[in-house]
Amino acid sequence: MIEAFHLKENRALIDAKWREKRLLTSEILGCEPNRALQPDLTAGRLRLDLMWKEGLIGIRDEHDGFTEIREPDSAHPRIRGMMNLLLQDPLPVTRAGLRFRYSTQEDLCGLWIDCSNEEIKQLKDEKAWLSRTLTKKHWVVEAGQKGKEFSLDAAGDVLFQEARSHVWLASFDANNDEIPLRSKIHLFSQPGPEVNRAMIACGFELLDLLKTPPRSWAEFGAGYGNLTAAFASLLPEARIWTSEIHPLAVECLTENAKHFFPDAELHLTAAKLEAVESASDLWILDPPRPGFPELFDALALRPELKPRSVLIYHCHSKGLLGDSARLKSLGYALQGWSSVDAFPGTPYHEVISLWNLS
Ligand SMILES: C[S@@+](CC[C@H](N)C(=O)[O-])C[C@H]1O[C@@H](n2cnc3c(N)ncnc32)[C@H](O)[C@@H]1O
Repeated sequence: MIEAFHLKENRALIDAKWREKRLLTSEILGCEPNRALQPDLTAGRLRLDLMWKEGLIGIRDEHDGFTEIREPDSAHPRIRGMMNLLLQDPLPVTRAGLRFRYSTQEDLCGLWIDCSNEEIKQLKDEKAWLSRTLTKKHWVVEAGQKGKEFSLDAAGDVLFQEARSHVWLASFDANNDEIPLRSKIHLFSQPGPEVNRAMIACGFELLDLLKTPPRSWAEFGAGYGNLTAAFASLLPEARIWTSEIHPLAVECLTENAKHFFPDAELHLTAAKLEAVESASDLWILDPPRPGFPELFDALALRPELKPRSVLIYHCHSKGLLGDSARLKSLGYALQGWSSVDAFPGTPYHEVISLWNLS
């Protein structure tokens, strides 16, 4: 199945990242990966998180200082263009988090300004920068933590209302065709299509190791439905339960479900075991950085609810370490794992592992 995805495999990545022990995944899991994929990220990032500091764009460095970033190779040309435009027409706040996004499907540029309410007011009061950015550059501009975006009314006054959804990053189905899911700039997403394709394909391939195809599966941490849509296409006959806790992601998940996984049962709250009592075949988990310790702790108290298999995504060793120890103590054995170099140039990588109840 993974052949359809034409992914770039890189054994050198294993040498560089695993054998030098800069990363501990092989030690944590006790074996080498089935796959180590290095998606080509040149000009491939459609989401880039950076910082704005006194007229410069950069990242916070390891000493909590600031390193300027200009024209990163990994960013899509439209994002590099946005960075240049922002330097020429500076954002009228001193400091903010920035998320640049580009939608290839809609040819749309987006910027999320992660700043305080005071700075949002400052932007509204200043008005000129927002007017230029919205009317001349036609960017979508979201700000703050409440999922809102700026717009102008007929009189040219600045409004700050619920952000509209766009196809910022497609998911992929079992035929490697795009699934145009809608989301918002501030919501979590993978950095770009190649990384997303690689992560989905690795999950598909690991599920090939199962002796019988799952007839039911439950997902925890669905976000706006990126993996839900992909695995729903892979397992069209299976019954699905999915859950997401973030209220702003939940809106997009509900909307995307109508179009792409209408039969899934949505649980728009924290992951709860009771909700998935009949999902005994498979769980698909994509937890935040610390993993899902509370879910496995709850499962230890209700062993009759253990699913036969667990496919789990980890972006951080801390979550992997905790969740893999809990899975082992619950009686699960590792079937295989794959890795995607989603963050080149850093010691981080995404790990996808499959566990069966032994
Ligand atoms: C790494 S993101 C994965 C999103 C999605 N699978 C994707 O591919 O874009 C983790 C998600 O888990 C959600 N989450 C965190 N704690 C949760 C909980 N207790 N129950 C359900 N979802 C949770 C977060 O809101 C976030 O959307």
